[in-house]
Amino acid sequence: TRGLATRRVGGRVVCLKETDSTNAVAFKMAEEGAVEGTVVIADTQSAGKGRLGRIWLSPPGVNLYCSVVLRPPISPVAACQLTFLSVVAVARTIERETTLIPQIKWPNDILVAGKKVAGLLNEMNAETEKVNFVVLGIGVNLNMRLEQLGSTLRHPATSLLEASGTPVRRIAFARTLLEELDGLYDRFLIEGEAPIRAEWLERSAIGGRRVKVNTGNGEFRGTVQGVDAFGALLVQSDQGALETVLSGDVALLDG
Ligand code: BTN
Repeated sequence: TRGLATRRVGGRVVCLKETDSTNAVAFKMAEEGAVEGTVVIADTQSAGKGRLGRIWLSPPGVNLYCSVVLRPPISPVAACQLTFLSVVAVARTIERETTLIPQIKWPNDILVAGKKVAGLLNEMNAETEKVNFVVLGIGVNLNMRLEQLGSTLRHPATSLLEASGTPVRRIAFARTLLEELDGLYDRFLIEGEAPIRAEWLERSAIGGRRVKVNTGNGEFRGTVQGVDAFGALLVQSDQGALETVLSGDVALLDG
């Protein structure tokens, strides 16, 4: 990381050969006072954490697993806005480092050619009024081969290598990602989430599209209107109401 052109992100970078989860390591370091911008990167994770308690496949030598400690002066309810930052940073990085066109799928998946290549998991430590720190966890499938992906995945997944046929330079990718993240965080601190959310929407695969939403306690169909400042999806339901979806699964419907 010599010569990283950033203000905050990557001020300190900890590279590990193997760990359970970079999010767990970064969280512990943050609890012990690690400065804002501290980054933990591992070559492999034995217990990579995915959303909803799922496992994130983390074979050695091929992908990117990293976590970033931020200490934004915001309230806990606003912390979900940081997801826009990592999503947009990963999308921009894929664009800069490959020939692929990334698409965003709510809430925080990044797809190429309709399949998932990256996942994000933010974890927060907060009091009622203010955030102590947030750990942004970012996993990107760079050079993993399809046979390493396994057949038990709930959603179709791929890697940048599988999708483009060209291996990705891991260090260059990591460096670009940290630089993009740093620039976006700077902007977030000055201008708030609105400009970054606007880019998120522009890049999202679901804006204006027909979807089926599964909220966990029911299913409905509708058309995506956008996303609000708290990351909730706004869907005009076929039944007529404008629904605010805080969490759940969204699938594109044809047509
Ligand atoms: C998802 O389920 O889509 C989120 C996956 C997040 C994986 C990354 S890999 C680096 C960081 N450390 C973890 O244990 N998880 C995140």
